Amino acid sequence: MNRSEIPFTSQFELFYEKLSGNGLLLCSLDEDGRPNPMTIGWALLGIVWRRPICAVMVRPSRYTYGCMEATGDFTVNVPPESLAAEVLFCGTESGRDYDKFEECNFTALESAKVQSSGIDDCLVTYECRVVQKNDVAPEHFIPEISQTLYAEGDFHRVYYGEVLSVSGDLQRIEAEQTRQAEETDDER
Ligand SMILES: Cc1cc2nc3c(=O)[nH]c(=O)nc-3n(C[C@H](O)[C@H](O)[C@H](O)COP(=O)(O)O)c2cc1C
Repeated sequence: MNRSEIPFTSQFELFYEKLSGNGLLLCSLDEDGRPNPMTIGWALLGIVWRRPICAVMVRPSRYTYGCMEATGDFTVNVPPESLAAEVLFCGTESGRDYDKFEECNFTALESAKVQSSGIDDCLVTYECRVVQKNDVAPEHFIPEISQTLYAEGDFHRVYYGEVLSVSGDLQRIEAEQTRQAEETDDER
């Protein structure tokens, strides 16, 4: 892919569009050094502690959880629509049972600033170093959330990653936006 470093704020819209659609791919490294992609639907991109931050929420039951605890870093990757099947696979199968990276035929993108690799097949990659983590406090939820989203416990740990580098393939991002605009036109 033809990637370049891009500004932190430049692809906010694409990030949130995909997050609220099929999801994004969080990639961490397991103890054997294998990249493990996991689909995420909940994340925040913003500024905290005078730093660009990407916060992700991972349940302790995920294989990804142990990976994040061990390395203290991760990447968040924005997939094109054409990877919908792979995104679904990474959101329904575990790295405990599959080498998901290999099953999806992904190409690893060596990170500039963190150990975890990115996914070169994706449009944008955020390289993040964990600078804070905390567990959501069950007693502080409104019942509407705790009863529906945490019926079985497994309360998320929130990882705040300082975004150290953002890379993207501008040509592919543009092509994706054109395709999306055409699709919207067709729906009218
Ligand atoms: C659309 C979608 C969004 C998801 N979002 C999250 C999330 O934000 N946090 C989380 O812990 N799991 C989330 N999941 C579930 C994990 O992706 C899923 O359990 C995955 O199999 C875990 O992989 P792992 O065991 O290799 O870490 C989501 C799944 C889907 C399909």
